[in-house]
Amino acid sequence: MVNYSCEKCGKTFKQKGHYMKHLQRKTPCDNIKDKIENIVEKKVDELVKEKLQDLVEKGDIEIKNKNLISNNQNSNTDTTKMENKYNVISLFSGIGGLDMGFGHNIIVHNNSISSDLKEYIENTENDNFVKLKKLNYQVVMQNDIMEEAKTLCERNGIENNYVVDSIFNLIKNDYSFPEAEVIIGGFPCQDFSHCGKRKGFDSKKSHDIKSELSEKDHNRGTLYKSYVEVVKRVKPKIFIAENVQGLLTMKGDPIKIIIKDFTELGYDVNYSLVKADEHGIPQRRWRVIIIGILKDRKKQELEKDWHEININNIKSCVGDYISHLKEPNESDDISQQVYSKAKKLVKGQGQVELDHKGISPTIRAEHHGNIEFRRHHESKKNPHENHLPERRLSVRECSLIQTFPPNFTHNLRKIHGNSYKFIGNAVPPLLSYLIAIKVQELLSNYF
Ligand SMILES: C[S@@+](CC[C@H](N)C(=O)[O-])C[C@H]1O[C@@H](n2cnc3c(N)ncnc32)[C@H](O)[C@@H]1O
Repeated sequence: MVNYSCEKCGKTFKQKGHYMKHLQRKTPCDNIKDKIENIVEKKVDELVKEKLQDLVEKGDIEIKNKNLISNNQNSNTDTTKMENKYNVISLFSGIGGLDMGFGHNIIVHNNSISSDLKEYIENTENDNFVKLKKLNYQVVMQNDIMEEAKTLCERNGIENNYVVDSIFNLIKNDYSFPEAEVIIGGFPCQDFSHCGKRKGFDSKKSHDIKSELSEKDHNRGTLYKSYVEVVKRVKPKIFIAENVQGLLTMKGDPIKIIIKDFTELGYDVNYSLVKADEHGIPQRRWRVIIIGILKDRKKQELEKDWHEININNIKSCVGDYISHLKEPNESDDISQQVYSKAKKLVKGQGQVELDHKGISPTIRAEHHGNIEFRRHHESKKNPHENHLPERRLSVRECSLIQTFPPNFTHNLRKIHGNSYKFIGNAVPPLLSYLIAIKVQELLSNYF
């Protein structure tokens, strides 16, 4: 005989003691009403979309906002949730460096992988590189203003519902963002960067390279506000925002303002300064990683270092990544054939030669051809290569130092100028993989 039943999950109990224990569980049971409502809502949504699609195909109606019917089962734009996978929205996607860890295989040198990451190795590739397993995510939407970036994502099989438009336009036009547990994105950093003019929130640059600056708020320095707006609309469980180190030191404390804005949306927010070379990436690249976690979660108390990226503490060197490459004139790889011919200058950035046994300076997006040297004449750093011509780093070398896979395609000849830029703008895929592991842990521990 059943005497007690839980109002939330519907579970029944014969004994009061068991019933009371159930009510006092540390992890509260799921509310069955909410669950049913969610399932019904999703189903209704699907049926409405199917019906609309049907009417559009018959020519009975015309829909301006194609997003209303974008859950097309046969296309890449399928945003329905695959079993056990977390949906991810990627903003400011570029060529997908940050996206790569979220559900794609990545390929890095074996020396970049510490013992705590060995379990993620799927198989060994050529030249002592290893492929890491895909993590449990699917990117359901990407956004950027650069058409070429989308094309490169397509060519590399990492394009997922990539919308080319200014994020301001999407917001203004009420774009219907797909549901997602996670939002990722590095809002443009020029205005916060040490090398830029550091105008931060007062930037007067247009948000969209194609349009004139018009509305006061729509400038590059406040693009992060559109990130806040998307978080507000989608309400993910976790969001990740990546930015340059300058964010922590510039006047006006932008980091405090950014944290306040996200906190007001109902998130616990914290950040850490991550040094890429301490995590297997052969490059000096310091980046601020901001993590927000929804306050409405099953475990309220956060561990002290919940936001720290503290795995894969290992060093690799430039030589691991590029010493096996053929010289540009001998290589079949177009990205290895292409390199900046800018003359060596007496001073300024980008005039140093890389040391194969050390790490590379930051691979920068803006350098006007002054990308670091693969080798100088009469090199003291790599004397075994002194018989080879002096030259700057090739596109492939920069791509590998950023830990893009060895077969990543950059070779659209006409956009090679942009290749350096896209690569320099990117989050190293290995770092993105470590962030994705962290996010996976947070999702399973706190929700
Ligand atoms: C720092 S990069 C992001 C790189 C990317 N996270 C990666 O790992 O490859 C910033 C990107 O924001 C894009 N962007 C700039 N203004 C934008 C806007 N108004 N709307 C959407 N994207 C924009 C730029 O084209 C650039 O690709």
